[in-house]
Amino acid sequence: MVAPDVSSDVDAARTVSLTGPGHLSGSLRVPGDKSISHRALLLAGLAEGESLITGLSGGDDVRRTRLALESYGVQIEPAGDGLRVRGGLQDEPDEPLDLGNSGTATRLFAGVCAGRDGYAVLTGDQYLRARPMNRVAVPLRAMGAAIDGRRDGDLLPLGVRGGRLTGIDYDSPVASAQVKSAILLAGLGASGPTSVREPAATRRHTEEMLRDFGGKVAVDGTRVTIEPSPLSATDVDVPGDPSQAAFWTVAALIVPDASVTVENVYLGFGRTGFIDVLRRMGADIDVDASTGLIRARSTRLTGIDIAGADIPSIIDEVPILAVAAAAATGTTTISGAQELRVKESDRIASTVRMLRAFGARAHETEDGMVIEGGAPARGGVVDSHGDHRIAMAACVNALIAEGTTVIHGWDSVATSYPGFAAHLAALSGGAVTLSA
Ligand code: S3P
Repeated sequence: MVAPDVSSDVDAARTVSLTGPGHLSGSLRVPGDKSISHRALLLAGLAEGESLITGLSGGDDVRRTRLALESYGVQIEPAGDGLRVRGGLQDEPDEPLDLGNSGTATRLFAGVCAGRDGYAVLTGDQYLRARPMNRVAVPLRAMGAAIDGRRDGDLLPLGVRGGRLTGIDYDSPVASAQVKSAILLAGLGASGPTSVREPAATRRHTEEMLRDFGGKVAVDGTRVTIEPSPLSATDVDVPGDPSQAAFWTVAALIVPDASVTVENVYLGFGRTGFIDVLRRMGADIDVDASTGLIRARSTRLTGIDIAGADIPSIIDEVPILAVAAAAATGTTTISGAQELRVKESDRIASTVRMLRAFGARAHETEDGMVIEGGAPARGGVVDSHGDHRIAMAACVNALIAEGTTVIHGWDSVATSYPGFAAHLAALSGGAVTLSA
């Protein structure tokens, strides 16, 4: 078993290089799920009493949520290999909240700040400062919060003056778990119930975890309603992140004679779409839902059509699925994925550029991409555009490329998966290493 979250100097390198083709086998545990980690800390911070949170993602994104809670006066201390959180937020933070690269932390905190009788400023790095915030600001304003920012209130830094909010019934124009979660968190302290309807169902961590913390949440199809309710402390053991497991799953499928097992992965609603998509491509994958195990072996993959209804459940896995498509026989089309344009990078553009750097035939469409699989991959020069998932997807593609691959912007991987390079070295028996 490969040890989890092994750090190495390579994690902080701006540029790395590696040489394929690689060999890959073994088992590992990936870092704790990022979505669950943010919510575990946040809900523990809002709850009355002490919660013990274990298995947290060690990435910078989740560290930002911890720091933001500390700015709100929440006491968080190491306890064994977890964190003990004593709930209780001040009305306002002592300083601007710097959420780094994390869209999830920003949108979730927007909901929390809106519900507090105080003033907060939210900001982040150059990539986060370019991402749209009106998707959360519009409903939070409708609940009574005063929110402003650059570009008509859409861009960070955002100033949020919160207070006593009024519950709303909101039809969200985007299928976004972050938007849904911001509204539900604001609804916790509103007068009257708050409902959100999504155009398509997204991951349900907030609903599930609010219930664990004693919140009153009802789910009816794509509509979620929260009644104002105090939360009470509970312990959370965060399972492994399926979005990180997806990198090793695809690596095992495309590297010849490979077999990789990922253990203790979260396999709940809205997060396993990548397994379904890969199986439709012909992938040999075993799943044991009771233990969260995913085992994948080398398989000849075939191109497929991936359309709008598939997208919410693979929203973070498109870059690595595109790598699988480039290695497959035949054409893969991805459509209905315009949300990818406003991720950590414009992921339609950065994914296509990454594939082309390896010699793949791929082009962008307005809401997706077309990939003609089967061209032999050759090492290339890739820019992550500050996007961790592009950097890791490129690294997996490099495993089947002839020659050396250079990845600029590798340090972005530390936002979600410090130790990725160490896991690769271990799975390849030391044969593939990243050099700074
Ligand atoms: C997340 C929701 C998704 C996803 C992100 C994590 C969450 O974003 O891409 O990585 O934890 O709620 P959107 O809500 O913007 O789709």
